[in-house]
This record gives sequence, C-alpha cells and structure tokens, in this order.
Amino acid sequence: MFGPGFFHRTGDSPAPRPSLRRLARHFGPFFRPYRGALAGGTLCVLIGLALGKMPPLITRFLVDRVLAPVAAAPWTEPLYRASLRRLGIAVAAMLGVSLLASWLMAVRTRVMRRAGAGLVLDIRLKVYAHLQKLSLRFYDARRTGDIMSRITGDVEAVERLFTGFGDRVLTDTLNLAVTAGILFAMNAKLALVALLPLPALIAAIRWFSRRARPLFRQVRDRMGGIHAKLQDNISGIRVIRAFNTEELESEQFARENREFYATQMKEADLSARAFPMIRFIEGLGAILVTAVGGWMLLRPDPEISLGDLFAFSAFVLQLYQPIGMLFHAYTHVLQAAAGGERIAEFLEEAPDIADRPGAIELPPARGEVVFEDVSFQYQDGIPVLDRVNLRARPGEIVALVGHSGAGKSTLINLIPRFYDPTAGRVLVDGHDVRDVRQDSLRRQIAIVLQDTFLFNGTVLENIRYGRRDATREEVAAAARAAFADEFIEQLPKGYDTEIGERGVKLSGGQKQRIAIARALLADRRILILDEATSMVDSRAETMIQQALAALMRGRTTFVIAHRLSTVRHADQILVIEGGRIVERGRHDELLARNGAYAAMCREQFRDTISA
Ligand SMILES: Nc1ncnc2c1ncn2[C@@H]1O[C@H](COP(=O)(O)OP(=O)(O)OP(=O)(O)O)[C@@H](O)[C@H]1O
Ligand SMILES: [Mg+2]
Repeated sequence: MFGPGFFHRTGDSPAPRPSLRRLARHFGPFFRPYRGALAGGTLCVLIGLALGKMPPLITRFLVDRVLAPVAAAPWTEPLYRASLRRLGIAVAAMLGVSLLASWLMAVRTRVMRRAGAGLVLDIRLKVYAHLQKLSLRFYDARRTGDIMSRITGDVEAVERLFTGFGDRVLTDTLNLAVTAGILFAMNAKLALVALLPLPALIAAIRWFSRRARPLFRQVRDRMGGIHAKLQDNISGIRVIRAFNTEELESEQFARENREFYATQMKEADLSARAFPMIRFIEGLGAILVTAVGGWMLLRPDPEISLGDLFAFSAFVLQLYQPIGMLFHAYTHVLQAAAGGERIAEFLEEAPDIADRPGAIELPPARGEVVFEDVSFQYQDGIPVLDRVNLRARPGEIVALVGHSGAGKSTLINLIPRFYDPTAGRVLVDGHDVRDVRQDSLRRQIAIVLQDTFLFNGTVLENIRYGRRDATREEVAAAARAAFADEFIEQLPKGYDTEIGERGVKLSGGQKQRIAIARALLADRRILILDEATSMVDSRAETMIQQALAALMRGRTTFVIAHRLSTVRHADQILVIEGGRIVERGRHDELLARNGAYAAMCREQFRDTISA
C-alpha cells in the first residue's frame, strides 16, 4: 500500500502514532494564551448563530400573518397598505440582521486570524529553540530540507486547528442542538423525519476519517521529501553541473513530486467520494421533510401550517449545515494532526546533550584537557574511538595526525561536547565536561572546523561572530594575524563586503583564513584547528604558522593537519589509527622510533620531491 520510497524515509518519520492526547499535550499550552481570542470568536459566532435563526422565523411570520391572509382575502386598499408596511418592517429586520451578522463575522475573522498567526509564531519559535538544544546526533540523522519543511509548513498546518476549527466546534455543536430543539418544538414527528439520515452521515464521516488520516500524514511527509531533495540539489548544484547529472537529478526530483502527487490524488479521490456522499445525505433530510411535511399539510386537519413547512425546510438546511461544518473542521483537525505529529516528533526528541541538573559554571579555564579511556561510536556497533588517553597541559600544542577516517575530527568534537563519549571521560581543568554548563565550556573554546562555514553577512560580521563586542581594530588585528587582511582590503568594500551564501564569493583558502581570524578574535583558552590551513598555500601557511605560534602561546591548542611540516613544533604528536593512539611523542622522538609517524613523514617527503 505504500509506494516506493516510503520505507527509506523512516529516518525522518517514524511510524505515526496517532494520538490526540499526544497532540493535546504538546500543543495545548500554546493555545492557552489565546483563550480570550477563542472566547471572543466563539461569542461572535454564537451571536451570529442566533441572528441566523431570525430570517426563517421572520419568513414564517410573513407567510402566515401577512402574505397568506392577503392571498386568502379579497384585495382591499387598507389591507394592502397595512400588509405592505408589515412587509417593509420584515424586510428591514432581515436586512438589519444580515448587516449585524456580517459585522460580527468581520470581528471574528480578525480576532481569530490574529490569534492564529500568533500561535504559529509561538510554535515556530518554540520548535526552533528546541532544535537549537538538540545535539549534533539529531542533525546527523536527518535531512535538512525535511527539518525546514516541518518548521515552516507543518507549523502552519497546526494553525488550522485555530482558524479552521477553534471556535467552530462549540458553536457548530450548539447550533446543531439549538436547531434540533427548534425543530422538535415546532413538530416532533417532522423533526424525527429530518434526523433520519443522521446515522448514515456519521457512518460516512467515520469511513472518511479512517482513510484520510494516514493520507494526510503521507502528504506532509512527502512534502518534507520534496524539500529535502530540493535543498540537497541546490547545495550540490556545482557537483550536478560538473557531472552532468541534471537529468538524473530532475528524474529523482520528479519522482519525489510524483509520489507527492499520487498521494494528493488519493486524497482527492477520497474527498471526491466522501464530500458528495455527505452532501447527498444532508440533502436527503430536506427532501424527506418536504415529502412528509407536504403530505402532512395535504391531509385533513393538518397539524402544521404552510409557514411551518417553510420554516421547517429552512431549519433542516441549518441543521445539516453545522454537521457539514463540523465535518470540514474535522478534516482540518486531521490535517493539523498530521503536521502536529511531525512537529511533536521533534519536540519529543530529548536533547541527549543537556546540562545536568546542578551543572556548574566552568571557571575561566587554565586549559588542561584530559581524555581518560575515552571510547566513542556514532552508531551502535561501529566504534570510532577506542580507549583514548591523552593529557594536554595548559599552553601545550597537541597535534593529531593519522590517515583519513582515523577519528581525529571525532576526537576533537568531544572536547566542546558536541557528542558525549560512550565510555570514559573528557576533562577540562579536572572537570568532566558533562558536569559543567555547556555554554561555560564552549565559551573557553575556539574552533576552526574542517569545512569552513561562513554566514550570509559582511566579512566584519563573520569575523566578529566569536566576540560580538570586538572593535573594528581588534577585528583587523585578528585578520592580520590570520593573513587575511591583505585580500580583505582588496574586496570591493573591504571589511564591509557581503559574503554570499556559504561565502561563495571567496576562495576556499580565503574562507579558511576568515575562519581562523574568527577563532583568534574569540580569544579562548583552548583552540582547536581542524585542517585549518589545508587550503592555504605553503607560503601563507608558513606565515599563519608563525602568527599562530605567537597566538598559541598560553593557549592549549589541538591541531589536526595532514601536512606534517605544520605539526613539527608541537609539544606532543599523537598518531591515530583506527580510533586508537598508536604513537605519541615529539617530532624527533617519533622519527627516531621509525614507526607509523616516520613512515608518514617519508611518504610526504617523497610526494613533495616527486611533485
Ligand atoms: N556524524 C557522523 N556520523 C556517523 N559516522 C561518522 C560521523 N562523522 C564521522 N563518522 C565516521 O567516523 C570515522 C572517523 O571520522 P573522522 O571524521 O573523525 O575522521 P578524521 O580522522 O577526521 O578524517 P579526515 O582526516 O578525513 O578528516 C569515519 O569512519 C567516519 O565515517
Ligand atoms: Mg577530520
């Protein structure tokens, strides 16, 4: 029953657990501030409802007291005038009622729309704040586009609970009860006739909702799939161009869209069957009333008047109108529930890296970093770090070298607590990083990551990211130390040049230097450089090394570098292989040992010579 591509999506959307209680638990608190609006909107609808009962009653008065007597009696001038006046009053009353009802509708729409928009705002901010707390593990397992589609589209779906549902349920139910009451008061037998199709209607609605619910969820999931594909393609547009895979990608995008389309069509088919069926059953009530009412009227000594029948027919329509409305509202609820479930899945995601209750503020660090028997795995059963022990004394430079995939980046990711070790402890100044507040820990650490990320904004803003209160002079000094000032000053607007999406207007090496400047400006006790100079040329690298050498003084620095010339002067060099430290020592010690490090050095030396 699920189309292709449904199952591989499970990472993004675990099997929906339909539970209205679950939704109420998550979204109930959001509705609370809008109780006033909800009450106001409900009041408007209630008054509108009462007004809606007037026209049929006025019509009944008009037919029985004004029009019928005139039709029955011979025409006379005074009767004509009196009746005309009554007609005028009745019409004026109808007009007044209509106007008032319209005005109330305007008030209600305004109140409810504002509340709905406020609700969306609140939920979106809450979900965003929650996402900020979730660990990198969460992001590792999800597609960016799908996350975005939940924060944008699905949050709006929840709003339908408000605009499509909120004040309607109470009022429609009330309307139903009042109308049924009026009908029974007018004529119980005819009222029963009018209600005959009701069980069939309820059955039809249940039939619909059973089928609609999973479809609505699928529609939302597939929309997430489209977003994810799109996001992937836009980020990877250069690769697509380079490998001429436009057609392949278009096909895959088309497939996502066709799946979405197919689900929508299923939903449309279902609606196309359900809505007319429900409408027909509604109409049946009126037809039955006309038939039975007409027959009652034709019998000798009719128990109802002609006006009764008119009013009755109008009220029967009003009886089924709220039922139809409730049904629509219900559809909205189902759709909102589908979106709500997708958001609830996020909100239920507990931040696995959270401050422990009573976590302390890490005092300004001396910068000692210790790993005690640290093991780590991203996925169960695939160890990435295996009983790593290391001690970086304050102010030391620790170099991590090793082949690609050895676990170097993973190791340094544990220092700012991006992930928690599966076993063992990471200590900063003797504090287990899990015992201190994350913000106080991260305030002491500056990082230049392997894949440089710059935000949309100016060069200045990007460098200043690590210390928002830095002056222009301090920014320039940091840029100088990172050998970035030279090219920055050549940019059209210098430090005020906007760097576009992911800094596309800069070269890889230029971006790296900005990232280094950012880390330097942040001025933290612990500095982590993951391949920070991999993209700059050797000349710039030597210069950056010199500048860094000065800056590293008094800071504990972790350097990951493939180019071994850059790690020569480190206090300790740790050689990592398969998640283990296989060798450690200073450059000459390791060369003398003639082990893995020496082999790597020879390899690189050969490469440099042959290059
Ligand atoms: N977010 C992640 N989720 C799952 N596995 C990961 C993740 N990041 C890295 N890995 C895996 O962990 C292992 C170590 O990766 P890591 O990035 O630490 O290597 P590295 O030594 O930094 O390599 P390189 O020199 O290429 O940067 C690799 O096998 C990689 O596939
Ligand atoms: Mg790495």
